[in-house]
Amino acid sequence: MNELNGKHIVLGLTGGIACYKAADFCRALVKEGATVQVVMTAAAEQFITPVTMQALSNRPVYSSQWDTREANNMPHINLSREADAIVVAPCSADFMAQLVHGGAGDLLSLMCLARPLDKVPLLLAPAMNREMWAHPATQRNVAQLKADGTTVLGVGQGDQACGETGDGRMLEPQELLAEVIAFFSPKLLAGKQVLVTAGPTFEAMDPVRGITNLSSGKMGFAIARAAQEAGAQVTLVAGPVSLPTPRGVTRVNVSSAQNMLDAVTGCASGAHVFIATAAVADWRPVSASAHKLKKDGSGQAPTLAFTENTDILATVAQSPRAQSGALFCVGFAAESHDLLANATAKRIRKGVPLLVGNIGPATFGLDDNALLLVDAQGARELPHASKRLLAIQLIADIAHRISTTA
Ligand code: CTP
Repeated sequence: MNELNGKHIVLGLTGGIACYKAADFCRALVKEGATVQVVMTAAAEQFITPVTMQALSNRPVYSSQWDTREANNMPHINLSREADAIVVAPCSADFMAQLVHGGAGDLLSLMCLARPLDKVPLLLAPAMNREMWAHPATQRNVAQLKADGTTVLGVGQGDQACGETGDGRMLEPQELLAEVIAFFSPKLLAGKQVLVTAGPTFEAMDPVRGITNLSSGKMGFAIARAAQEAGAQVTLVAGPVSLPTPRGVTRVNVSSAQNMLDAVTGCASGAHVFIATAAVADWRPVSASAHKLKKDGSGQAPTLAFTENTDILATVAQSPRAQSGALFCVGFAAESHDLLANATAKRIRKGVPLLVGNIGPATFGLDDNALLLVDAQGARELPHASKRLLAIQLIADIAHRISTTA
């Protein structure tokens, strides 16, 4: 899935050691299908050569407003008009200060000033020493740039090239890529709060053993990411999985079904959409042993008594908020056979307007899936695709449903 197919990005580089990451970022943009026009300031050329950036972008790099390659000698107009966005990465403190004042002393700042504000968005990825980032002048500039409609991305935290540690590192290339993809996503869920459960649960038997299942959490994490990109505020209640948290998503880690219920109950009061993708254990041992269960030499296996876990989805679906229509609940069903019949029955049993069926053994742990969307009117298939694409399609479907029922 080339997520930036057809997009033309002007990638601006300003002076900073993070220029070395811009090479990787450029490559990542191209790999996602974007065409990239690199524009560098003289300071950026102190850190990385135009040759490197030309080779990675497959286009000659521009750095001077007096570039005779342009017939009209107006690269600032020509290059900025064809862009879907200008992304400055790294963006130095000095470059931000120039932008705040409408400075146009080099080709890149001139392009930022000359771009049509309503058609060519500007995204900045700041990169600087932690003291420079924290300085009131820089923070004032960031606030002003945001007020002017510029998207100022966050900064990373950690070791800096100067030897200090703190805020101000440029985001990593893959983080920048995720930000650009999210930027272009239609904001179908703007202003909405979305709550997602994902992954398995772990029901302890003793301090070292427990009962769990094969859910990888990938579908739920992909849904949380897609909802965030669609402009929602997303809380992801995750069972024990080691997947990275999608950017901008608030993650609550839980272990047992009871923990998951508590976390969901705490977050559901403000939510507009609840998507239960977690493979919650139906049963838990009545009591977990305080000490490790040991073999006693008799050859007899210990007997475990089980009790049923609360159905989180059904509980939330019965809440006044869901019953009034303020909270749209979506269930998942991992079946092994008779998908339509089982998913249809499960939707009614759970009391939810939409139930998403899939064949569990065919998808557990994998990166792709196929979904069957079952509602009161019937069923619609989302054919076999990556979980990423299915998540985007499902979020668009849910956004449409809540916009038409609102
Ligand atoms: N679910 C839940 N809490 C539970 C059990 C399930 O929130 N204690 C949710 C799942 O997250 C999923 C849906 O209910 O959205 C379907 O769960 P599933 O376990 O497949 O359904 P069951 O009701 O357990 O049916 P069965 O085991 O008979 O297939």
